[in-house]
Amino acid sequence: MRRKVTKAIFPVAGLGTRFLPATKSVPKEIMTLVDRPLVQYAIDEARAAGIKEFIFVTSRGKGALEDYFDHSPVLEQELRKKGKDDLLEVLKDTYMESGAIAYIRQHQALGLGHAVWCARRLIANEPFAVILPDDVIAADKPCLQQMVEAYEETGGNMVAAMEVAPEKASSYGVLDVAEDMGRLTRVKGMVEKPPFGEAPSNLAVIGRYILAPSVMKNLNKMKKGAGGEIQLTDAIAQDIDNEQPVYGYRFDGKRFDCGSKAGFLQATVAFALARPDLRDDMLAYINSVALNASAAE
Ligand code: UTP
Repeated sequence: MRRKVTKAIFPVAGLGTRFLPATKSVPKEIMTLVDRPLVQYAIDEARAAGIKEFIFVTSRGKGALEDYFDHSPVLEQELRKKGKDDLLEVLKDTYMESGAIAYIRQHQALGLGHAVWCARRLIANEPFAVILPDDVIAADKPCLQQMVEAYEETGGNMVAAMEVAPEKASSYGVLDVAEDMGRLTRVKGMVEKPPFGEAPSNLAVIGRYILAPSVMKNLNKMKKGAGGEIQLTDAIAQDIDNEQPVYGYRFDGKRFDCGSKAGFLQATVAFALARPDLRDDMLAYINSVALNASAAE
């Protein structure tokens, strides 16, 4: 029997410089899409995939993120007094079972691979998931759940993959494809941020991974890659030479790059339009803005 994936790492130690000045005091992962912080979407997706242990790799200034998962007795009491049962229900999603959540500090921002490696003792010898909360994926079946189901058949390592335009490939880790099987691709190499025109394919790695414990061992070598950072893609690619195959998984769903301003704003509009309580107001506003813009041209 293949070992179930029950642990997920959430690397959230980055500085989030693209959102300065906001990220001077607010962690990027606490910024909200409509009324829920990015991290809530990530936790919901992990829970749907069967994750039971949630490991956050944090850094200085991420206190608000840790507080977010605490119970808030004063607030609860106040809501109960006012009979706001609907809001009490909303708060339930933010609570974690005692001991289900752990915080590890990445003392220096040496790269995503290094952030993942910081959680090695909590992962021990088990397969694990990695979720980057700033990649938000809207999907009928949550992306990590799709991947866990596919992984139960394949084992090895699996990364979420998405087709990107050739001129965008140098912003991503890109798959070198050995065999394209449709939903799944078997990968023979991975290149992090390839120079323009040198990407081995148009399949980019998106922030969802299911990894074998051997990837942690590869990270022990602390090899620096693109941008002088310790890259997770390099450590995964090393497994191709070992006994663990690597698969790309073309997920069903729409991904938003909430680490960038344009992506975050697009996600805000999309998530607001998906909410029955906001949809009509938003549509009326978007239509009026579009009309005014075309009248001005
Ligand atoms: P990004 O490349 O988006 O970096 O990291 P960032 O610091 O979050 O944002 P910018 O580019 O300065 O605006 C991708 C993911 O990897 C994590 C980040 O927290 C984010 O979830 N990360 C990156 C770490 O945890 N540690 C690192 O050393 C680097």
